[in-house]
Amino acid sequence: MVTQMKTLDDYKNAYKASVENPEQFWADQADKFVWKKRWDKVLKWDFKGPDVRWFDGGKLNITENCLDRHVEVRGDKTALIWVGNEPDAPNKTYTYKELFLKVNKFANALKAQGVKKGDRVVFYMPMIPELMIGMLACARIGAIHSIVFAGFSAQSLADRIIDAEAKVVICSDYNRRGAKNIPVKTVVDEALALGCKTIEKVIVYKSTGGDMVWNPDMDVDYCKIMDGVAEFCEPEAMESEDPLFILYTSGSTGKPKGVVHTTAGYMVFAAYTFKNVFQYQENDIYWCTADIGWVTGHSYIVYGPLLEGATTMMFEGVPSYPDAGRFWDIIEKNKVTQFYTAPTAIRALMAEGDEFVEKYDLSSLKVLGTVGEPINEEAWMWYFEKVGKRAKPIVDTWWQTETGGILITPLPLITDMRPTFASYPLPGVQPILVDPAGNLITENGVEGLLCIKFPWPGILRTTWGDHVRCRQTYFSAFPDLYFTGDGARRDEDGRYRIIGRVDDVLNVSGHRIGTAEVENAINMAPGVVESAVVGFPHDIKGQGIYAFVIAQGSVDNIDELKKSIINSVRVEIGPIAKPDIIQIVPGLPKTRSGKIMRRILRKIASGDMSNIGDISTLLNPEVVEEIKKNAPTL
Ligand code: PRX
Repeated sequence: MVTQMKTLDDYKNAYKASVENPEQFWADQADKFVWKKRWDKVLKWDFKGPDVRWFDGGKLNITENCLDRHVEVRGDKTALIWVGNEPDAPNKTYTYKELFLKVNKFANALKAQGVKKGDRVVFYMPMIPELMIGMLACARIGAIHSIVFAGFSAQSLADRIIDAEAKVVICSDYNRRGAKNIPVKTVVDEALALGCKTIEKVIVYKSTGGDMVWNPDMDVDYCKIMDGVAEFCEPEAMESEDPLFILYTSGSTGKPKGVVHTTAGYMVFAAYTFKNVFQYQENDIYWCTADIGWVTGHSYIVYGPLLEGATTMMFEGVPSYPDAGRFWDIIEKNKVTQFYTAPTAIRALMAEGDEFVEKYDLSSLKVLGTVGEPINEEAWMWYFEKVGKRAKPIVDTWWQTETGGILITPLPLITDMRPTFASYPLPGVQPILVDPAGNLITENGVEGLLCIKFPWPGILRTTWGDHVRCRQTYFSAFPDLYFTGDGARRDEDGRYRIIGRVDDVLNVSGHRIGTAEVENAINMAPGVVESAVVGFPHDIKGQGIYAFVIAQGSVDNIDELKKSIINSVRVEIGPIAKPDIIQIVPGLPKTRSGKIMRRILRKIASGDMSNIGDISTLLNPEVVEEIKKNAPTL
């Protein structure tokens, strides 16, 4: 049984085995882990419910596999290298033994605060080691972690806390990002004032020592509760299908939903994909630049690398501070071997000029990765030429919060590369294309809607508190298929190229944002009657946000109105969802049944005015001319 593919034949054989006998294939991958009780059945599934169960009947604790398992064989190996925001600050490193100790102690500290198996713990934290320690401590005691990206607003944080009915929030005092120092604890206090009734404690890690309001009834000092606690915490025996974490993500309707991942399947999938996609070797230094607030950080900073006994790096800062050479400086200093980042970061750094990247010695690199959004050919070539010096493979990895791990990707030096193509499915992944009526598209050289027809171990199991929503969102568009929401092209050789979302979800700098959420936020601004939000092509962000807004009465001061719209988005969601362009319009193009014709708005937003298509069936065709006339030139 091959756990790490090395050749094209390995890949072909593994793929074949995974389709012909998926249960055997994944049992072989799961065998190396520590199980408190072996599973009864590898896979039971039904996409109608959906009801997917991997390694059913098994018992395990994922932290035993991330930590205890390695302490014996590589206890003194560095598990985590933490690189701080300031370029001259020394790294902090943790060996497997040290990380094990911290996690055990914090697990005991959480227990002492009354956190139990099944409780939800929300994290609102910058990229500091205590975040990783905290999430592993939750997993150790069976509490379900839900990490909220620390750039979200108090309202967004409150929405997630309320939906998850969380018992505890864990945060820092401040968040150092580049030249900014963001008051994290203040945002948590604001969120709690918005009606988070289930929260009993706020655990605060004083990372900067800056001033903050302290509420003695609620607030607990992270360091104080770590004092004097026992150094070992017995890992809770979790069922294979017990939830490990909830991660909120945006969809085409309503508020973000809590994607639920469970223990055993996620573990096996995160480990297998990490080891194979990055071809990790024992002494490599692996760095993923994502924030742990997104799924990429969960699977490929924390769980995947630790499960494989890797050295994983975590960076507190931003790519542009103190200058656009920061990533390359970190790679040189730390001799990074695998580097995994987002196309938006590549485009932003590319725009700053080649001199930043050319200054550094990047010869330690072995594999370059991208994730989160389609990568355009220019950015791909720049990454290949300037960072990889035309010698290092690029893995363009396609996956989603819901998939738990990478599904479609080249394998470095194993399968071929074609710029902008995520290429081939990993073993265990069975993608298909369908047309909008759900007919299977069998030929190559075509575009279609990307679906997956068979479960892989990392697939989401439900959406927190609302299983029907999970069914409707992912399993109802086409019977017996998981629908990804993405459109894709399959080339003559069977490689997939992801085109982008076909639903009302935007991808702005690799962040997933629902148009409905942004419209809701805009509509809450005083003086706004209605709005429609669409994406438009943006050189750095991939997609920008274009808002068409109907204002109440005549507007005296358009700038004021725009400011208040932007402010409302900041307050309701956070700065990442701020519109790039706001156009005040007299009306929105609607069908006779009142549906906004976004297709027309998308054309206008992309500057393609010539080819708007048929508007004769609209309720108000005249507004289209008005909107076109006043659209800003991009
Ligand atoms: O549209 C696809 C895009 O990001 C979406 C998933 O976003 P999220 O759940 O936030 O997860 C991002 C990180 C895994 C997908 O539906 N996407 C992700 N990776 C790629 C991509 N689009 C093109 N190429 C990719 N490599």
